[in-house]
Amino acid sequence: MPDAAGDALVPLRIAVAGKGGSGKSVLSGTMARLIARRGGRVLALDSDLLPGLSMSLGSGPDPAEAPLWGATQKKPDGRGYMWGEGMHAALAAQRFALDAPDGVRLLLRGKQRPEGFGAVIGASQTFWEVVHGLVDAPEFRDWTLIGDLPAGQYQVADDWAPYARIYLVVVQPTMQSALTGRRILRVARMRAPEARHLVIANRVRDEDDVRHVEKLVGEPAFASLPVDEDVAAAATIFAETVKRLRDAGGAFV
Ligand SMILES: Nc1ncnc2c1ncn2[C@@H]1O[C@H](COP(=O)(O)OP(=O)(O)OP(=O)(O)O)[C@@H](O)[C@H]1O
Ligand SMILES: [Mg+2]
Repeated sequence: MPDAAGDALVPLRIAVAGKGGSGKSVLSGTMARLIARRGGRVLALDSDLLPGLSMSLGSGPDPAEAPLWGATQKKPDGRGYMWGEGMHAALAAQRFALDAPDGVRLLLRGKQRPEGFGAVIGASQTFWEVVHGLVDAPEFRDWTLIGDLPAGQYQVADDWAPYARIYLVVVQPTMQSALTGRRILRVARMRAPEARHLVIANRVRDEDDVRHVEKLVGEPAFASLPVDEDVAAAATIFAETVKRLRDAGGAFV
């Protein structure tokens, strides 16, 4: 009979979406670590150009240069990028994912740099190729993939999480959060009709908050997460640390 540890070994394919600040990174990072702690192999996929997932995983700050640049090279005509010599999606994920706590591996699309999107564009294109290549990659068949998507519906619409069999849409008990959640659910159902699309109510104080989320979204919440003072405190400490390092000339965004 499968126990909690056995369950963790069933690979999941999850994309986490929601409005800005709804708690996507906290949920993605926490799930990734819990599954890894129980013995599951986990690749966390961070497709946000802004920091977030490495903080909730406890692996931050992100490197200044996106590791996936290492998997890419300029096309001979100089227009755009292609795989580096001998490289392919699974190999790129194996070689360029970073170690995070509890044995989680973290693959970054790359982070926004002061000099603009050009500084990440090759890595970003490569990340796209990797997530598409991982869908059927035998090397990752036994792995749980957890994608932390940037705020809003655009990455869902634009197919940045082709691996997702489960969409978790994180919603706080506010009208704006619910409206964005509804839009994402609609887009995700069009994009991947065969996947499961689940509402996660976050930062709820009580059952009334859960009911409020359900009413605003128009469907039941699959699960709910309470307001957690420790989570809020950890975020503040991390933000303060990043600020200090940046002030001190650290090389990251
Ligand atoms: N259940 C919770 N209890 C307390 N604080 C929370 C909870 N969930 C998230 N937070 C806090 O809310 C803030 C936003 O969370 P998080 O970064 O996970 O959101 P996000 O949806 O990933 O945001 P972004 O759109 O910027 O990527 C953080 O400061 C986080 O610590
Ligand atoms: Mg985030």
